[in-house]
Amino acid sequence: MAEQKATNVTWHDGDVSREDRQQILRQQGSTIWFTGLSGSGKSTVSVALERALYKMGKLSYRLDGDNVRLGINKNLGFSEADRKENIRRIGEVAKLFSDAGTISLSSFISPYRADRDEVRALHEAAGLPFVEVFVDCSLEVAEQRDPKGLYKKARAGEIKNFTGIDDPYEPPLKPEIHLKTDEMSIEDEIQLIIDYLLEKDIVKTNMLTRESDAA
Ligand code: ADX
Repeated sequence: MAEQKATNVTWHDGDVSREDRQQILRQQGSTIWFTGLSGSGKSTVSVALERALYKMGKLSYRLDGDNVRLGINKNLGFSEADRKENIRRIGEVAKLFSDAGTISLSSFISPYRADRDEVRALHEAAGLPFVEVFVDCSLEVAEQRDPKGLYKKARAGEIKNFTGIDDPYEPPLKPEIHLKTDEMSIEDEIQLIIDYLLEKDIVKTNMLTRESDAA
């Protein structure tokens, strides 16, 4: 847990509630958290899911490791401490997005179980759904795909602390959803996620909440 450094700060509530925001958007916010090796397919799945949700009229927003590391987390590297801070910040950002009513789609290797569990706890404490999706793919296949050529560099010793090569990855023990991207098609993966979100009422097809709709 990160230390609270600032003193004399207190939470200030607004006059518009989470429910009010949900009514405007006609959806409930949540966080879908993709974890897995580099090259396992996290970004591909989240891009396809964003598209599928868009077609359903649902607002989602992707938070992606590489993108976020070019912006808000540009001052972080890949040491254990920096990865922890990377996930802590993104966990907070994902929580803000879902509190705002958006379905946040977070794709980060997030190699440490404890860090992911902290993000889960953060959401649960705030009453926001958190869905952990294990984007599972063998190291062999991820390395064959090597979309950015990084495994090759890591094997050549040009990148240190590369996840799966000389840095650990702790798979989730009880993810809500387990995708085996070296066996399943992307269409089946998206269907599995959408079915789960509908079944658990995280995404509702008919969220008629405005008074004008009811009339
Ligand atoms: S995390 O471990 O802190 O969750 P994150 O998902 O943000 O990682 O970033 C991973 C991406 O950074 C990889 O997909 C890859 O493109 C790039 N990268 C660069 N160096 C490393 C490294 N040492 N280990 C893993 N990924 C790296």
